[in-house]
Amino acid sequence: MSHVSELIATDIGAYLQQHAHKSLLRFITCGSVDDGKSTLIGRLLYDAKMLFEDQLAAIEADSRKWGTQGGDIDFALLVDGLAAEREQGITIDVAYRYFSTERRKFIVADTPGHEQYTRNMVTGASTADVAVILIDARKGVLTQTRRHSYLVSLIGIRRVVLAINKMDLVGYSQATFERIVDDYRAFARQIGLEGITAIPLSALKGDNMLQPSHQTPWFRGPTLMGWLETVEVDEGRLQQGPLRLPVQWVNRPDLDFRGFAGRLAGGQVRPGDRVRIQPSGRESTVARIVTAEGDLPLAVAGQSVTLTLADEVDVSRGDVISGADGPAEVADQFEATLVWMADAPMYPGRPYLMKIGARTVNATITEPKYRVNVNTMEHLAAKQLALNEIGEVNLALDRPIAFDPYADNREMGGFILIDRLSHATVGAGMLRFALRRSHNIHLQHVDVDKAARATQKGQRPGVVWFTGLSGAGKSTIANLVEKRLHAMGHHTYLLDGDNVRHGLCKDLGFTEADRVENIRRVAELARLMVDAGLIVITAFISPFRAERAMARGLVADGEFIEVFVDTPLDVAEQRDVKGLYKKARRGELKNFTGIDSPYEAPQMPELRVNTSTGSADEAADVVVARLRELGLIA
Ligand code: ADX
Repeated sequence: MSHVSELIATDIGAYLQQHAHKSLLRFITCGSVDDGKSTLIGRLLYDAKMLFEDQLAAIEADSRKWGTQGGDIDFALLVDGLAAEREQGITIDVAYRYFSTERRKFIVADTPGHEQYTRNMVTGASTADVAVILIDARKGVLTQTRRHSYLVSLIGIRRVVLAINKMDLVGYSQATFERIVDDYRAFARQIGLEGITAIPLSALKGDNMLQPSHQTPWFRGPTLMGWLETVEVDEGRLQQGPLRLPVQWVNRPDLDFRGFAGRLAGGQVRPGDRVRIQPSGRESTVARIVTAEGDLPLAVAGQSVTLTLADEVDVSRGDVISGADGPAEVADQFEATLVWMADAPMYPGRPYLMKIGARTVNATITEPKYRVNVNTMEHLAAKQLALNEIGEVNLALDRPIAFDPYADNREMGGFILIDRLSHATVGAGMLRFALRRSHNIHLQHVDVDKAARATQKGQRPGVVWFTGLSGAGKSTIANLVEKRLHAMGHHTYLLDGDNVRHGLCKDLGFTEADRVENIRRVAELARLMVDAGLIVITAFISPFRAERAMARGLVADGEFIEVFVDTPLDVAEQRDVKGLYKKARRGELKNFTGIDSPYEAPQMPELRVNTSTGSADEAADVVVARLRELGLIA
């Protein structure tokens, strides 16, 4: 690279200029240590001019600070979330290395290859333009080659180089090379992976790494570095597509200037273009494309811009500005492919936060239609998804969003799921299509509403939600509270765990997934009853914070009163009215709360009652007094 060092010495300005305008290729290497992956990466780094990881971090920080204009390292939102994840101390094991040659800059994501590292690979692949799939020439196509290739195609990487390594150990045999390529192509067709280039290599000896090898005179293709330096990335395809601008923020320094800023996720935009704001559907015309260096006549996918519009239309963060002639779809229910990344399994029915583009919404997931065995591509029946599992699910959002299928646009169709309480990333997924019922089921407007019904009863509706261990005294106190409210003339209804489990929830047991579903149904039922104008009292263990938070979120502020019946385990166990603790201790009853199933105590309940110091009657009085204090009853 003497030309480079010369340029650095003689004209640093020209060098920096050249460096800044080189294109960037992000790629992922897949293979295990045995395939010679470290040797291969080592050689690429050694032979190219290398920058170390701390410099990468600086460049990354810089590019975030300045936006991505002119710069190149524009990490997609998906990975922003995942990077935040690493900061939270969840181990996603991906090493990013940065190097450059005279023609291009590179970021290589290196991930461990074992099966349990699916989530690492998905993270590494999520921003990659191309993938290098390593094969040991002595072993040929292995199960792990298939797994890596499946994940690569799932993530939407369209170009793959099949690096058939250790050719020196098979005597540079053309027949061996061709047999492996044929095997691989047959498999790749099944998963829809096209655009494969195969290269015979010896990473150790340097054959076909940077220079064509005289050991493989029969091979006419590129060297690995040659391929990496010249392979086309997908930007062209995106730029030809329809205009998409997920609005990251709304600038309004003064009233004359309302700008909508973000990174173009697709298409091109010019002043005068007709656009549609989604999901609202309102239309306007682009007035200006504003940048720090002055207005632009044109901006294309990949660029960060601020648009101003000709009309005073309502645009908020998270909306998408689309071309009026080719708008995105708008829907609130989808079929999606989901990769689960958390230690705790995915529970159908539990609400998660979904981050897609610049928007965050609430999402619940149905039971998976199937999960995929990533080694055989087989579809297996599944009730939930565990760490590193991949499945096909339906998603229901709490409001409509603008999207494109992931296969058409990674940024418009890729999403992550976040736990509402810990804020950890628990899954990453790809929207496949909107469900038709999303368009066909609408909320029916009714004229007699909650306020009208509540007024007729002369009360404020609400939920008094008791939670606590089995035998804590929830049902006893709830029953006494209902009697008092009833005596005061209130219209109430008591939902009790043991009763509901004889009817509405009789198909459910006590696994964590069943408890999540139990509380989801009860919460929805309580919501309907509040809408009917009632004061609902519930008595369920409801052991998980997430579902209690969900129940709270279903009704209006101030309508949810959480009462923690804080009876210590030893006291509840001593009482053991139903003899269940004894059974659980003897091992005859599985998943018993407090014994071998968790209880997450409320952190900020509206009221905490202690039944070990007073009677149930006294506790009921305390509850009624608190309801009065909170203004639910007069
Ligand atoms: S929850 O966890 O899903 O909220 P719920 O309140 O409906 O539970 O039901 C709890 C009641 O079911 C207990 O009071 C007890 O009588 C009975 N029960 C039976 N098996 C179990 C178990 N494994 N864990 C807890 N309660 C159980």
